[in-house]
Amino acid sequence: MLLHVQRIAVPFEYPVYFTEGVFSPSNDDLASAVASREPGRRHRVLPVIDGGVAAAWPSLPEDIARYVGAHAARLSLVADPIVVPGGEAAKNDGAATAALQARLDALGMDRQSFVMIVGGGAVLDMAGYAAATVHRGVRVVRIPTTVLAQADSGVGVKNGINAFGKKNLLGTFAPPFAVIIDARFLETLPLRDKVAGMAEAVKVALIRDPPLFSWLTSQAPALASGELAPLAELVRRSAEIHLQHIASAGDPFELGSARPLDFGHWAAHKLESLTSHRLRHGEAVAIGIAIDTLYAAFAGLCSEATAAAVLTTLEALGFLLWDEALALTHPGGGRLCVLDGLTDFREHLGGELTVTLLEGVGRSREVHEMDERHIVAAIERLRERAARRGARAAAGAAGGAAGGARS
Ligand SMILES: NC(=O)c1ccc[n+]([C@@H]2O[C@H](COP(=O)([O-])OP(=O)(O)OC[C@H]3O[C@@H](n4cnc5c(N)ncnc54)[C@H](O)[C@@H]3O)[C@@H](O)[C@H]2O)c1
Ligand SMILES: [Zn+2]
Repeated sequence: MLLHVQRIAVPFEYPVYFTEGVFSPSNDDLASAVASREPGRRHRVLPVIDGGVAAAWPSLPEDIARYVGAHAARLSLVADPIVVPGGEAAKNDGAATAALQARLDALGMDRQSFVMIVGGGAVLDMAGYAAATVHRGVRVVRIPTTVLAQADSGVGVKNGINAFGKKNLLGTFAPPFAVIIDARFLETLPLRDKVAGMAEAVKVALIRDPPLFSWLTSQAPALASGELAPLAELVRRSAEIHLQHIASAGDPFELGSARPLDFGHWAAHKLESLTSHRLRHGEAVAIGIAIDTLYAAFAGLCSEATAAAVLTTLEALGFLLWDEALALTHPGGGRLCVLDGLTDFREHLGGELTVTLLEGVGRSREVHEMDERHIVAAIERLRERAARRGARAAAGAAGGAAGGARS
């Protein structure tokens, strides 16, 4: 007998600031974000900093202390910043998460205290997960410091860590209290990470925003060389599309199986595992986008011209669209290991396999099965393309060397 249907509606709201110099004492964004709900109170803030960021910005602990001092009516520092290892290592080591949870407890962090996470997507995911699980949720202010985290993960509602050999197996949906995107952090980001982060912008452009895709194509040389002004614009446009999608697509906590923002991700997640995270998330996503776009062309969903445009733009942005892990096969049968990514992806989504494929730039469709022969052909095409590019580069180098010898 059905007794009652319980209905709970909880609106979530979080501000996203775009700024420069978040810890400069005259910048009010952080203090006003933290104090937005209870302006009359002094709020406890605990900084957690990505080790890579701490190394690149050695004055950060002092800058934060000075900032909190300058805004002492609204902010107080719980302790010196906790520095955690940066990169995927943060998510692979469950002990690091447990250690952070223990610190949050030891420092008396309660549900109205703030963990202020400064870092790349991996540290935001790991520390966000720790904060979301202590007392079932301590407030989080995210200060993303990579292109990927500023353009995508840092403005979203997910966190998590890797476990049992699977990407993001443990995690929660937990909207942050506030997000502050400081363009200056990108000044110290290595070029490899600048490029990697652009994959998520290409992804949203392809499924949602044709003008952004044209812009990415036209700006590719400047972006590939890591120029900061176009990168800041890429971040802003990509973040806006992600925010709009989360707010308006009707499924912020991903209860259904459709997942357009995971375009290109079934192969990407598998490639990250197969390479033991030698490939960055963004690098794997670029390959995943290339596979699924070629697949769409082979399956007759989009034109060869669209596929060629996507691959050319990805390469112009600096991505390599081939990795030896694509050729790994299971012992015996010879089946490509990357194909297992489809099963993992279905499990991660729950329910039916749902893969987003392109019909054209800005137009996508969901499919519920994929023909492995087309996937294999797409991978083969990427291998041939990489071999041709390699041969051209070698010929160019030999030509250059010969030219040098003549002069
Ligand atoms: N939660 C989500 O919705 C979501 C979405 C997309 C990706 N992700 C996750 O994000 C992670 C990838 O994040 P990422 O691309 O930001 O890379 P990352 O966090 O692995 O960082 C890459 C490297 O850059 C360093 N670094 C960070 N900021 C720096 C700076 N300003 N200057 C110098 N070095 C800096 C880090 O220490 C690290 O060594 C993956 O684990 C991926 O699964 C999560
Ligand atoms: Zn991603």
